[in-house]
Amino acid sequence: MNSDLNQIWDKNRARDEDKREKLFPLIRLQTLLVKRRLRALIASREVRTVLDVGGGTGRYAIYLAEKGLDVTLVDPSEAMRVRAVNKAREKKLAINVADGEIADLAEFADGSKDLVLCIDAPLSFSYPEHEKALSELIRVAGKAVVIVTTSRLGTIPVALGWDLTREYVPEEIEDEFEPYIYAGGLLANGAMRWREELLDHVRELGLDSRDFGFLPEQIEEPLKAAGFEIAVSQGLGALSLHVEEEALESILDDEAARDKYLDLEDAYGTQPSVRGLGAPNILVIGIRDRE
Ligand SMILES: C[S@@+](CC[C@H](N)C(=O)[O-])C[C@H]1O[C@@H](n2cnc3c(N)ncnc32)[C@H](O)[C@@H]1O
Repeated sequence: MNSDLNQIWDKNRARDEDKREKLFPLIRLQTLLVKRRLRALIASREVRTVLDVGGGTGRYAIYLAEKGLDVTLVDPSEAMRVRAVNKAREKKLAINVADGEIADLAEFADGSKDLVLCIDAPLSFSYPEHEKALSELIRVAGKAVVIVTTSRLGTIPVALGWDLTREYVPEEIEDEFEPYIYAGGLLANGAMRWREELLDHVRELGLDSRDFGFLPEQIEEPLKAAGFEIAVSQGLGALSLHVEEEALESILDDEAARDKYLDLEDAYGTQPSVRGLGAPNILVIGIRDRE
């Protein structure tokens, strides 16, 4: 067990994890978009085994177990794993669960899982080992990889918003505005760096101080080099950044409107000029075409 990671992704984070969809329409939207992509993927090719790395409380692991797939969830947080197992049990489903982190998936052989997932930023949280982590995901994937992680250019406006509202700055730090997640650093090399004197404070808040914003090509190129085709590369929920939250909620509540809206999201977010820019998260799906 990596006790550092276990501590950061502690009990409270695990408890709050499942509330996020209710609190933030963007998260609800992203879940709907990813599930649609997963559905299409498993309908289009034979997928039997799944490894969900950084699988958290099982949002996607349980969804795929419900579809009859053999799912293994790996996560360094014990609280997340326990919650995932309990949620699966409530649904009378079995998933395999293991302690581990992305940069070291040594217990899984090359190509040993048909589908490898790494969704909602575990790959970014593996910084500074993000390149090794990505190569581990690719190594284990037999047929397909689905990655959702922090988009570098899409995150800069969000980080700037935190800076401007001083969201994570304790009151005793009284300087005038100074970016503490340096948008410049993010732009230059992708690393989100908290100001030194805030590090203890953000850790107390349960936030990880390690995060890396990817450019789409930093995920696409290693996948292509390993023989994968890029089936999807998308700014996930990019269109919704231009829609009022209340309007978005009404669309998502209305089944007929929702499907049309999700189609539009996919078409917009996969535009080459939007994919790396328009959303805090990027989705990349790589397919290894041996079939
Ligand atoms: C925002 S949650 C997403 C969970 C899940 N994939 C989902 O989409 O619901 C991020 C997860 O990444 C895990 N994580 C953080 N650092 C990690 C690492 N280096 N390797 C694997 N998982 C990690 C955390 O424990 C947490 O469960």
